[in-house]
Amino acid sequence: MKIKMRNQQERRIMENGSIFSRSFGERELKKLGFGALIICCFMAFSFRTVSKQPTYAHTDHENIVRPIIHNLSNSRSDVLEINGDIRIHTNTSTIYIHLTTTFDGQTNYSTAIKPYARKGDNFIKDYVTTWNITSHSPENSHALNCGRNFTVPAVVFSIGGYSGNHFHDFTDLLIPLYLTSRQFNRQVIFLVSDKRSTWISKYNLVLHKLSKYEIIDTNNEENQVLCFPKTIVGLTSHKEFGIDPSIPPHYSMQDFRHFLRSTYSLERESVTSTSTYNNKKPRMLIVSRKKNRFIKNEIEVAEMARKVGFDVVVEEMGLNLTVVAKLVNSFDVLMGVHGAGLTNMVFLPENTVVIQIIPFGADLWAKPYFTLPIKDMNLRYLEYKVGLNESSLLGKYPVGSEVYSDPGAVYKKGFIHFHAVYLKNQDVTLDFVRFREVLLKALELIQH
Ligand SMILES: *[C@@H]1O[C@H](CO)[C@@H](O)[C@H](O)[C@H]1NC(C)=O
Ligand SMILES: *[C@@H]1O[C@H](CO)[C@@H](O)[C@H](O)[C@H]1NC(C)=O
Ligand SMILES: *[C@@H]1O[C@H](CO)[C@@H](O)[C@H](O)[C@H]1NC(C)=O
Ligand SMILES: *[C@@H]1O[C@H](CO)[C@@H](O)[C@H](O)[C@H]1NC(C)=O
Ligand SMILES: *[C@@H]1O[C@H](CO)[C@@H](O)[C@H](O)[C@H]1NC(C)=O
Ligand SMILES: *[C@@H]1O[C@H](CO)[C@@H](O)[C@H](O)[C@H]1NC(C)=O
Repeated sequence: MKIKMRNQQERRIMENGSIFSRSFGERELKKLGFGALIICCFMAFSFRTVSKQPTYAHTDHENIVRPIIHNLSNSRSDVLEINGDIRIHTNTSTIYIHLTTTFDGQTNYSTAIKPYARKGDNFIKDYVTTWNITSHSPENSHALNCGRNFTVPAVVFSIGGYSGNHFHDFTDLLIPLYLTSRQFNRQVIFLVSDKRSTWISKYNLVLHKLSKYEIIDTNNEENQVLCFPKTIVGLTSHKEFGIDPSIPPHYSMQDFRHFLRSTYSLERESVTSTSTYNNKKPRMLIVSRKKNRFIKNEIEVAEMARKVGFDVVVEEMGLNLTVVAKLVNSFDVLMGVHGAGLTNMVFLPENTVVIQIIPFGADLWAKPYFTLPIKDMNLRYLEYKVGLNESSLLGKYPVGSEVYSDPGAVYKKGFIHFHAVYLKNQDVTLDFVRFREVLLKALELIQH
């Protein structure tokens, strides 16, 4: 039994090395370009119906360990749990399972999976490696000698897709990975394809908390066969940026947030009593955006929030999650324009407030991403819809343009177009009178 495990320090050096020596390829740049738009595009996905695959029952009257395949797929992701003699040839992205010819008359099994939790998304299909899962007969098994034997299970997934976009990192990868692998209590090996070392290094602490072993990069393995007694191909996903506690293994967003607090050593679990603020002002973080969708009068808005009674910090969210998590956890109110930066609400203590600024025309669009998840996280939610007179769109299009009168019609012309109009090229100037009401409401909620 040989399990390669590098110590943390060695691993970090290795990955830091690759961060700095690697420049962005065209593919990554293209993907990052998509990142911002992708935050709002799940409605565009065509969900396929769940494909039926055979589930092999276990029979006791033979000594051979037969594979048992559970199909755990749903509308969001394809997931197969396989128990038995599993041989993974990383070079060809093929997972061989041993089926005996006498078994239930079933002599072969073959399916293919893209192990990324955003099923049916056509934007990303080229960035997610397909894994073939196939039975092998005794005749070809000589080619499948185990190069390494493992006793712990493997979880096979792709970190291609939309990885690198903060929202997608959580909703497509971290939450699904938690749902899939937490049950193994770190006794699990992650086999990843489409690896980006920046991603692994960014979430190193989370990954290490879920698995004690070094991640295996399947695109860079020697040409050999890895053998496992159990393998899960694909990551379980229940819903956008959330967890359904009624589905096994019955985790909740509270559990996930507890897991993050413990991973990043965050002190504040919840805001419980008014006495917290007896001697100090509640703290408000304004998540600043620099590339687009920025608040033009951010400085004045911050000043007004101070007058209303908050201790205000304006900051753009950085890439070091340890720093971001600690920072966000120290606040009572998180406010920002709809975008990936709001994802950091996962680090807020319970009962704190999130204020989402929704750009003009984008309300139907922006709402599903955070509104429902916020409730599951035990956070309070306020939203502020930007009016046309507060938007940089005013004056950009002819009077009477449907951009002003009918955003729904613009949406029907396609997501890319809609995104370009309302999300990529819109900045906002908040109306002091209207926004002050929201700030007062936030203060009231936090001091209930
Ligand atoms: C995976 O299976 C598909 C058909 O199911 C096949 O076209 C493809 O070549 C296979 N890939 C590999 C790497 O064997
Ligand atoms: C599976 O076996 C059947 C016969 O038992 C054969 O007709 C079929 O082509 C096989 N399928 C694959 C994918 O090998
Ligand atoms: C893996 O286990 C099989 C039998 O279970 C054995 O034949 C093979 O030599 C082992 N391979 C290694 C690399 O230990
Ligand atoms: C994968 O297999 C091909 C031949 O099928 C070989 O040329 C290549 O070197 C292998 N890659 C690795 C990393 O071993
Ligand atoms: C992130 O910040 C922490 C605390 O300042 C530091 O210890 C750590 O090395 C940083 N991580 C990376 C990847 O830069
Ligand atoms: C924008 O219009 C609303 C009414 O639709 C009004 O209450 C508000 O004062 C206006 N704001 C600015 C900055 O003109």
